[in-house]
Amino acid sequence: MDKKKAIATRYDSSAEIYDNRYIEIQAHKYQEILSRVDFSESSGIIDIGCGTGTFLGLIKQLVNENGKQLLGVDLSHEMIKIAHEKFPDIDFIVADSDNLPIKDGYFERILSVTHLQNLSEPDMTLNEIKRISTKDAIVAISILRKTWTQEELQKILKKSDLEIKDEWIADVEDIGVICCRS
Ligand SMILES: C[S@@+](CC[C@H](N)C(=O)[O-])C[C@H]1O[C@@H](n2cnc3c(N)ncnc32)[C@H](O)[C@@H]1O
Repeated sequence: MDKKKAIATRYDSSAEIYDNRYIEIQAHKYQEILSRVDFSESSGIIDIGCGTGTFLGLIKQLVNENGKQLLGVDLSHEMIKIAHEKFPDIDFIVADSDNLPIKDGYFERILSVTHLQNLSEPDMTLNEIKRISTKDAIVAISILRKTWTQEELQKILKKSDLEIKDEWIADVEDIGVICCRS
């Protein structure tokens, strides 16, 4: 089985229990991002590797979503199925973040929470993030610090021409960055 298929299968089989097991710890990561990024001033928000859609559901509750497009993307059919059930008013699609079915320069806010460190070639997804983002887009990324150090993350982002504007190491398990296109 290739690596991506194995990842999709792994998340398919944990989709049912995902929220029970991880929602609390993921909520800390969402708060780190919400305290740094203004979502009210954007017309399009995409969550890449959105899992069961919880972060977009929260953003929808918090900001006036008039005219905003909210889109969640994930490789796992089962994760997306649950996201649809939880948030029928938000768009969710199954897609690979290395090859997003989205036109150039479209989204103003781009999220990737506990997703990038799953990828064997993160540069491919980061190139897609840059391609689909508007010139002044804000990209928020949180990864597991047991997978990459802050320096490794900085290096990967620099290689992809994403400029770090803010970063944090959380008490829980993640490190995060807010970046823009350089
Ligand atoms: C740890 S979960 C995080 C889910 C969500 N961001 C959250 O905050 O709960 C990682 C997610 O990334 C997805 N994923 C892994 N590789 C992917 C890829 N190449 N493209 C899109 N999604 C991917 C998995 O299916 C899984 O739902």
